Amino acid sequence: CRCCKIGPSLLASDLANLAGEAQSVLAAGADELHLDVMDGHFVPNITWGPPVISALRKHVPEAFFDCHMMVAKPSQWVPEIAKAGGTRYTFHFEAVESDDLDVQGVCKSIRDHGMQVGVALKPGTGVEAISSVIALVDMVLVMTVEPGFGGQSFMPNMIPKVLALRTAHPDLDIQVDGGLSPSTVDVAAAAGANIIVAGSSVFKPGVDRSEPIEIMRRSVL
Ligand code: DX5
Ligand code: ZN
Repeated sequence: CRCCKIGPSLLASDLANLAGEAQSVLAAGADELHLDVMDGHFVPNITWGPPVISALRKHVPEAFFDCHMMVAKPSQWVPEIAKAGGTRYTFHFEAVESDDLDVQGVCKSIRDHGMQVGVALKPGTGVEAISSVIALVDMVLVMTVEPGFGGQSFMPNMIPKVLALRTAHPDLDIQVDGGLSPSTVDVAAAAGANIIVAGSSVFKPGVDRSEPIEIMRRSVL
């Protein structure tokens, strides 16, 4: 569907208290939990993998786990992420070209393992690159920063990509990730993004997490 969903990125949370942070944003109205898996190869940073996701799953059994896989070999982790409790598996289109199954094979494997399929585009990748696979995915993630780190500035020049996708695909789920906050969400929402990922703006010290979540939700609706 094309409903509005807000997915806080736990990368910006207190990582020593992942379960508590997840429960806190779910109570504050989060629709999904965005889990950034980084392998130190596809991006110059390392976060966590299946064991941590599996451990978190036990604390939030009903939550939607939106797994953003910033890894060099997307097909390699599909079975383990499924087993760990992943709900959606978003792989990077750029990672598949190098050394992996073909893009259609990755999509099929994700679906065969019972997860929703997402495909992500780095800022340098145009939407035309994925035209042949859009029919196979549930969601396209348009990165609005270079993947790898939280707390970077939103790239407004990514908005034409969102607009082009929305114009061609009225019902597609379109996610934006990177630098989203109550002050940058409007332009993304107006272009047609309906799934908003936000890390540092939600886990801002001293701010009630329901505030940014509700402001961003109103922008999309
Ligand atoms: C960056 C990650 C994002 C990141 C967003 O590579 O994909 O999910 O956590 O963080 P903010 O919202 O702080 O830009
Ligand atoms: Zn992410």
